[in-house]
Amino acid sequence: MPQTSPPSILVIGAGITGLSTATLLQKHLSTANITIVAAETPNTPSPSVDYASMWAGAHYRPIHPLSTEQLKEEFRMGVRTAEVMKGIAREFPDSGVEFMPGVEYLENPPEEIFKIRNGDVYAGANDEFRILSQDALPQGAKWGCEYQSYCVNISIYCRWLMGRFLANGGRILQHRLSNAVDAFTLADGDRTGDVPVVVNCSGRNFDRDPKMKIIRGQTVLVRQQYTKTITRQNADGSWAFLIPRPRRGGTIVGGTKEVDDWEATARPETRAKLLQQCVETFPDFVDSVEKFEVVQDNVGRRPWREGGYRIEIESVGPGRTLVHGYGAGGRGYELSWGAAERILELVKESLAARARL
Ligand SMILES: Cc1cc2nc3c(=O)[nH]c(=O)nc-3n(C[C@H](O)[C@H](O)[C@H](O)COP(=O)(O)OP(=O)(O)OC[C@H]3O[C@@H](n4cnc5c(N)ncnc54)[C@H](O)[C@@H]3O)c2cc1C
Ligand SMILES: *[C@@H]1O[C@H](CO)[C@@H](O)[C@H](O)[C@H]1NC(C)=O
Ligand SMILES: *[C@@H]1O[C@H](CO)[C@@H](O)[C@H](O)[C@H]1NC(C)=O
Ligand SMILES: *[C@@H]1O[C@H](CO)[C@@H](O)[C@H](O)[C@H]1NC(C)=O
Repeated sequence: MPQTSPPSILVIGAGITGLSTATLLQKHLSTANITIVAAETPNTPSPSVDYASMWAGAHYRPIHPLSTEQLKEEFRMGVRTAEVMKGIAREFPDSGVEFMPGVEYLENPPEEIFKIRNGDVYAGANDEFRILSQDALPQGAKWGCEYQSYCVNISIYCRWLMGRFLANGGRILQHRLSNAVDAFTLADGDRTGDVPVVVNCSGRNFDRDPKMKIIRGQTVLVRQQYTKTITRQNADGSWAFLIPRPRRGGTIVGGTKEVDDWEATARPETRAKLLQQCVETFPDFVDSVEKFEVVQDNVGRRPWREGGYRIEIESVGPGRTLVHGYGAGGRGYELSWGAAERILELVKESLAARARL
């Protein structure tokens, strides 16, 4: 049967995953008609805690060692995303992406980390990765490294992605669905029979997948500007990190990782603890708590999924295909382009299957 109208594709979600995916689909499927439907968008004035992309740092911090298939795949996606981000930072200084040194200190490093050598690829090609010598480490740290990383001013970057999507003919529909499957009828309109592909980049908000959990994150945005992104993993499992927001957006002081903690408002005692920890851990940034100029507290729910990101096709009825892309946990920005490329492949597969019907 000849196709008269271009294929419609509907992407649920305007978080980092949905925006990156929609942009990439637009670029590679130039004849497709692409719509984003989202309860909240980067223009929503007071985003909810469930809209994770509005509360991220966001920096790129690779995860080693690669002990599972999932971590290996995420590593590949991270390296690929860094490559794309490098192009974006170079070509579009207004995008809110900036490369800068990344530094890590580990108090309790896993044994396998000692297998990594200077010059190995840690974050991406030409990342200038080097292991810090023992005498360059702060007290208590047993392993450390430095490499080229990048940070994202999330509000600028998400709006920039959205602007490009709209400028290239994409549409955004602000609407809360009660079920992802409703998106098929929403997109159908009066063009009965032209069932589109629906891409599910909804973060965690439908609550249908029992493998989904939330990991609460609280951080503090301060006016002071740091020059690199630095992370310290403490022996007790807690984290101290600084993430500068490019384009004078200040610095994120973080942060917590609280599994299944649903508290939506910032805890004052957590803010106090984070600032105190920052002064002790990174005294070259701000040397006393009184000196911080706090801009705001951030609280967000990371959409974490047991077993990792769900990027797969699900058939939900005759000729109706859902392509899932959710469950990025704490890594949605740094894996975004790698994930979007995998989703693109699945959308192409779905369209090809549909054309054969
Ligand atoms: C404190 C904190 C720090 C973080 N730091 C980093 C970092 O440094 N680096 C990094 O890579 N990641 C970081 N993350 C993780 C990152 O924020 C997430 O992985 C990422 O935002 C997930 O994006 P997403 O697009 O999948 O989901 P979301 O951003 O949650 O977007 C979901 C979208 O789906 C829409 N939606 C949901 N339900 C419905 C519905 N029923 N109907 C219609 N639309 C719906 C929402 O409105 C929204 O548009 C951090 C997170 C937190 C909380
Ligand atoms: C894209 O889809 C929308 C909604 O289904 C429709 O109004 C619009 O005309 C379509 N555009 C093209 C180029 O087909
Ligand atoms: C869509 O994504 C959500 C996560 O937000 C997940 O719980 C759900 O199972 C997915 N599929 C459907 C049909 O909703
Ligand atoms: C992003 O940077 C701009 C300055 O360019 C700043 O005003 C804004 O607060 C920053 N956004 C965030 C969320 O840090």
